[in-house]
Amino acid sequence: MYTQSFNVPDADAKPGTPLKAVPHDAALQAHFDAVVDADGKIEPRDWMPDAYRKTLVRQISQHAHSEIVGMLPEGNWISRAPSLKRKAILVAKVQDEGGHGLYLYSAAETLGTSRDQMFEALHSGKAKYSSIFNYPTLTWADVGVVGWLVDGAAIMNQIPLCRCSFGPYARAMIRVCKEESFHQRQGYEALLTMMQGTEEQKAMVQDAVNRWWWKCLAMFGPPDADSPNSVQGMRWGIKRISNDDLRQKFVDATVPQAEVLGVTLPDPDLKWNEARGHHDHGQIDWDEFWAVVNGDGPCNKERLATRVKAWNDGAWVRDAALAHAARQQARAMKEAA
Ligand code: 3HC
Repeated sequence: MYTQSFNVPDADAKPGTPLKAVPHDAALQAHFDAVVDADGKIEPRDWMPDAYRKTLVRQISQHAHSEIVGMLPEGNWISRAPSLKRKAILVAKVQDEGGHGLYLYSAAETLGTSRDQMFEALHSGKAKYSSIFNYPTLTWADVGVVGWLVDGAAIMNQIPLCRCSFGPYARAMIRVCKEESFHQRQGYEALLTMMQGTEEQKAMVQDAVNRWWWKCLAMFGPPDADSPNSVQGMRWGIKRISNDDLRQKFVDATVPQAEVLGVTLPDPDLKWNEARGHHDHGQIDWDEFWAVVNGDGPCNKERLATRVKAWNDGAWVRDAALAHAARQQARAMKEAA
């Protein structure tokens, strides 16, 4: 029978064929490995190892949480944007992040986890989300720097995910990356405008860059040697480029952008290494990173409390939508009867 799924048993297979001779799971595993090795896509109805499924649920749900928690530091500035143009751009950007969260929750749901389970994990503090969103956006320049550096780092990490072996995640990432690219450019353009302004505006941009630079480098995750999930994630074609290599690509891409902007990146050890063909950079404070990941960043409690409040405040919308859907279903059944 023609099917998209790899895990439907072939009803016509004769007993005793080689496929039946090997243990069932081994054949499925071999097929899965072959698809992954050939850079093919695993789809939700295909057989996949439990650990692959769990890894994807972990990564995609963390990613979805990062998108919706990521709405908060910038959403904070919508009412204080300096012009109608900047406000319209910021509203669109923050809405995009909400949309990214929704694509990603949907992609994770295809793996058999429910949205309620994922929200429960976020709201109870069990789930991780990106460390970067636990820092405050103190001035308008922070909004530009979040676009330029945070979204820039996010794109660097996410473009390879468009080639992830799990189909729904890869497809979601294509659209996410297009939108993130606009986010990065709007941030850079806002900063270019400020850098043509007063001395106070230029100082504000430099101050924001100083506060965000190291946090953005840490966003890519622990060094490869301390990254427990990387080897298997890369073997499965979920991750395509390692944490350290992505970080290096980000540094190399950002240095010339900083020069054009006229800001200094706050790292005395940052310099071009001719032999490596890359920039060397200073030490990242991994103790701070782990403290933030484990709940002790400047804004962790505030971010979580805001998400929980939004969830509770929205209860009546969910109740109304469910009641409406139930009524529509009852009406459809009555008409069909
Ligand atoms: N913040 C919080 N936790 C982090 C982290 C970060 N910046 N980087 C790594 N970690 C966590 C991992 O989740 C993992 O924890 P777990 O095993 O309990 O889940 C642990 O640290 C060890 O890290 P690993 O390198 O072994 O983990 P991964 O192989 O999963 O790599 C990752 C981490 C690179 C973040 C990877 O999961 C990934 O690429 N995720 C998808 C992209 C993503 O989530 N990006 C977050 C930012 S999204 C965003 O910024 C929104 C945009 O709008 C700006």
